[in-house]
Amino acid sequence: MARKPLISGNWKMHHNHFEAIQTVQKLSYQLTGADYDAVDVSIHPPFTDLRSVQTVLDADEIPIALGAQHCHWEDKGAFTGEVSPLMLAKLDVAYVIAGHSERRDLFGETDEMVNRKVKAILAAGMTPIMCVGEHLDEREAGVTEERVSSQLRAGLAGVSPEQVGAMVIAYEPIWAIGTGRTATPDDAQTVCATLRKVVGEAVGAEAAEGVRIQYGGSVKPTNTAELMAQDDVDGALVGGASLDPDNFSRIVQYRLGG
Ligand code: 13P
Repeated sequence: MARKPLISGNWKMHHNHFEAIQTVQKLSYQLTGADYDAVDVSIHPPFTDLRSVQTVLDADEIPIALGAQHCHWEDKGAFTGEVSPLMLAKLDVAYVIAGHSERRDLFGETDEMVNRKVKAILAAGMTPIMCVGEHLDEREAGVTEERVSSQLRAGLAGVSPEQVGAMVIAYEPIWAIGTGRTATPDDAQTVCATLRKVVGEAVGAEAAEGVRIQYGGSVKPTNTAELMAQDDVDGALVGGASLDPDNFSRIVQYRLGG
C-alpha cells in the first residue's frame, strides 16, 4: 500500500488573521487538482487565525487540510491560555502537531504530556503529527536513533495499532530547524527507517506500513525532491518556507522539479 505524502506548513507564531487569509488564497491559486491528487497538504496557522482560515477553505472549497500547532489534552477545564482538542475539532481541524521541539524545549512539554496529547487528539477524531528529534550534541554523541526511538515509544504508549497506522510522525532534527542546515537525504532516511522499525516493534507491521513519517528542518523548494525520494520519508513539515505561498507551493509541487 503506497502512502500518500503529506506536506504540512507550520506557520509557528507568524501571520495575523488578515495575512493568513491572503496567504491561503494565494496558495490556492497556485495549487492544482493534480497537486492535491499527488500530495495531501495541511497548513497550521496560529490559533487566532483558525476560524478565518477555516471559513476561506470552506467557502472556496480549497482541499487544503486545516491544522493546529498544539493543544491541551483535556476537553475543558481551568487551564488558562490553553485550547482543547474538542474546540479544534469543532473548527474542522484535521491535523494537530504534538510535541514540536519548540514546545518541548521552550515550554517544558515532556514525553508524558505529548503522549496524553496524542491520545486526546485521536479521541477527538483528529490526526496527530507527533514530532521527535535530537539536539546537536546528541547527534554528535551518536545517540540520535536512541533518542528519537525513546521519544517515539513514549509518545505512542497506549495508542492502538490502527490509530498509529493512521497517524503522522515528524522527524525534526532540532539543529536543522530554522538554521538553514538540513539533514542529508541519507541521514533523514536512516532515522525515518529506524522510526518505522520502532513502530513495527511497538505495535506491529501493519501500523509500520501505514504510518506516515515526515521530515522537518530547513525544508526548501530546492531540497524537497531529494528528501521525498527516500523510501521512508512520506512528507515534510515545513516552517519558514511555508510562510510564503510561492515557496510553499513549489515545495508541494516537488514532483515537478521544485
Ligand atoms: P524550518 O522549516 O523553519 O526549519 O522549521 C521546521 C519546523 O520546525 C517545522 O515544524
